[in-house]
Amino acid sequence: MFFYNKQLLGLDMGSYLIKAAQLQKKRGKYQLKKFGSIPIPVNTIVDGSIMNTYEMNDAVKTLMAKEHFKDKYCSICISGHGIINRVISVPKVADDEFYNVLKVEAETHIPNDIKDIYLDGIKTGVVEDGRDRVILIAARKDLVGDFFQVVNDAGVRPMSVEIDATALANIFNVNYPEERDKTVALLNVGASKTNIVILSNGDLRFFREVMTGGNFITEEITRRLKVSFQQAESLKSGSHAAGDSILPNQVEEIVADVAKGMVSDIARVFDYYTNSNPEGAVSKVYVTGGATRSFTFIETIKSNLSIPVEKFNPFKEITVPGQVMTREEVENCSHIAAISLGLALRRMDEE
Ligand SMILES: Nc1ncnc2c1ncn2[C@@H]1O[C@H](COP(=O)(O)OP(=O)(O)OP(=O)(O)O)[C@@H](O)[C@H]1O
Ligand SMILES: [Mg+2]
Repeated sequence: MFFYNKQLLGLDMGSYLIKAAQLQKKRGKYQLKKFGSIPIPVNTIVDGSIMNTYEMNDAVKTLMAKEHFKDKYCSICISGHGIINRVISVPKVADDEFYNVLKVEAETHIPNDIKDIYLDGIKTGVVEDGRDRVILIAARKDLVGDFFQVVNDAGVRPMSVEIDATALANIFNVNYPEERDKTVALLNVGASKTNIVILSNGDLRFFREVMTGGNFITEEITRRLKVSFQQAESLKSGSHAAGDSILPNQVEEIVADVAKGMVSDIARVFDYYTNSNPEGAVSKVYVTGGATRSFTFIETIKSNLSIPVEKFNPFKEITVPGQVMTREEVENCSHIAAISLGLALRRMDEE
């Protein structure tokens, strides 16, 4: 059919910003066709579930219209408490039997009724006795269905659904082929959550979501400086009015304090990974997500995590024509674009 080999529109529906990206492949290299984002009201998405269908639908529609996204087939991702993942080992089987094996394993490892969940499995290597090491992923059908409905109602057809971790891993591999022989961690610090993803030799080995992010900083500013959530958001983003009684360094202190707490949570996850995978400790950390726009935040992570930390540039190996975005615009959205770009790697002719 005519749309075969076509890249899907990547739609990352975060709890703070919806991002959309479109790529095309030219002579073996990805090129950006379009990128756009739009804020959504607080509490429209909570813990990965849509709480306000009307607001969500309106935001997706507005983003499509505002940025003139013409492509009607998209790829989305899901996250939050509706997703369960377990690392398991399964007997080696032919590809067409893999799903049945997953189903049997899910009966033991997943508390939900099998008929209420979608199942997937990512092979992440071989365990000692020749069995495959697999990350078993279960997603609640009702949660996925809500996202499908919202997107469909906005006139876009979801053709592929995945988890944040795979989208991050895929866009990382496109941009950092030189890191393929190492064990690296990706941290995507959003508003309500932080994705921690560990890759070894380019393969996704482990992922976890920690329920912390930019909102925690905003809430702490609200609490300590007795301002509204909205004011705290502006203060955090560096907008201080002349004559403001709150000093920028008061805000930066709070950012640093919360970031230190996050580092302990993240370090605990790395320790857990290293204890169960002693052969491959994380040697480098790449950070992204809206919260990493803050210089203080990044510097605090750098000075408190005993592993080298670098900003993840999701456009590093992607050509961006000047008429699509200027260098400054690319720099401006590089913190928030990773997942949508990862989703935009999906093609119409994939399963
Ligand atoms: N200049 C800035 N300085 C500090 N923080 C910022 C800045 N700009 C945005 N943020 C924060 O980034 C966060 C939003 O990041 P992002 O767009 O990655 O989240 P999201 O994907 O919508 O949320 P989630 O994935 O957690 O549902 C918010 O907490 C916001 O306050
Ligand atoms: Mg996000």
